[in-house]
Amino acid sequence: MRARGPGRVNLIGEHTDYNDGLCLPFAAEAGVTVDAEATDTGEVEAESLAYGEADRFDAADPQPAEGWRAFVRGTVAELNAARITVPGARLRIESDLPEGAGLSSSAALGSALCLALLALAGEAEPDRRDLARLCSRVEHDWVGAQTGMLDQMAAFFGAPGHALLLDCRDLSVEQVPLSLGGWTLGVADSGSRHEHTDSGYNERRRECAEAARRLGVASLRDATSAEGLPEPLNRRVRHVLSENARVRQGVKALRTKDMPALAALLDASHASLRDDYELSVPEVERTVERMKEAGAAGARIMGGGFGGAVLALFPPGTEPPADALAVAPAEGARLLG
Ligand code: GLA
Repeated sequence: MRARGPGRVNLIGEHTDYNDGLCLPFAAEAGVTVDAEATDTGEVEAESLAYGEADRFDAADPQPAEGWRAFVRGTVAELNAARITVPGARLRIESDLPEGAGLSSSAALGSALCLALLALAGEAEPDRRDLARLCSRVEHDWVGAQTGMLDQMAAFFGAPGHALLLDCRDLSVEQVPLSLGGWTLGVADSGSRHEHTDSGYNERRRECAEAARRLGVASLRDATSAEGLPEPLNRRVRHVLSENARVRQGVKALRTKDMPALAALLDASHASLRDDYELSVPEVERTVERMKEAGAAGARIMGGGFGGAVLALFPPGTEPPADALAVAPAEGARLLG
C-alpha cells in the first residue's frame, strides 16, 4: 500500500481555525508518501528517510515518543482506539516537502499514514472529517501541539485547481476555483524558528479563549466587536474578526478572478497579524520586504507565526526569488495503490 499526503498552503484566514472561524487553504503538490507492507510480527517497524531514523513498537500498544515517531505511534494508537486494528507493518516514510517551509509536514504525514494504515487493515475509508479529527487528536495528545483543524482539513479535502473555504465551526468545506491566470504564488522560508513558536501559539489560543469568556460568547466566531476588552485582548479579537471578513473578501476575489484584490488582502492580513496579533519577527519582516522588492503585489506571514513562512503573490511578468517555492492547488490525500 502506498499513500500520499499533501502539504498545505493557507491563502488567508490565519489564527481563525481555533476560533471556529473561516480559512481559505489549498493542498500543495509537495507532500509525504508512506509505503506500508503488512508483516506477521505484530510490530510496526517504521523508517523515516528524511531523518535517517527508524522506530519499532508493538502495533497493539504504542507508547509515547518524540518527533516524527509520535505521529506514527499516535496514528496507530488512535486508529486502534477507533476499532481499526492495525496489523504488524513495515512503513517507509518519504517526503519532498522542503523542511521547515511552513507547509505543515505534520498534516501531510498524518493524512498519508492514516490512509496507508486503513488500507493495510482492510478498512473502507471513513468520513474524511473524522480522519482529520483523528489526526488532530494525534497532534494534541501524542505530539503535544494544540493546533486547530486547518492543516488536516486542507490535506484531506484538497482538490486540484481549488482553494477550500473551510468553516471551522462545523468543518464544512466549499471548493472555490483558484485560477492563477499567469500570477504566481510563492512560499519563502524566513529562516527563523523562534524558540517561543509553540508557547507563543498557545498563548494566543489562551488569549482568544479568555476574550471569548469575557465577551460571553462560546467562541470568537460569535463576537461582533472587541469593545470593552483590555489590551491586548481587544487587538487579538480585532484580528480574528477582520481576518474572517478578509476570508469572505478573498473568496469574492477568487470568484471574480481579481488577483490585485487578493494581493491587497494578503497585505492587510499581514498588517493585522503583525500589529494586532503580534506574531511577526524581524526575519519575517525582511522576507516580506524581499518578496515585495522582487515584485510581489502582496505578501504575508503564513502559519503559526513567530518565524516560519511567508506567502507572496507575484503578478505576471515578475520573477519570484529563487528561494520562493511556487505553489498551486493540488490533489488532497490519496491512496496511490
Ligand atoms: C498552525 C496550526 C493551524 C493554524 C495556523 C494558524 O499552522 O497548525 O491549526 O492555527 O497555525 O492559522
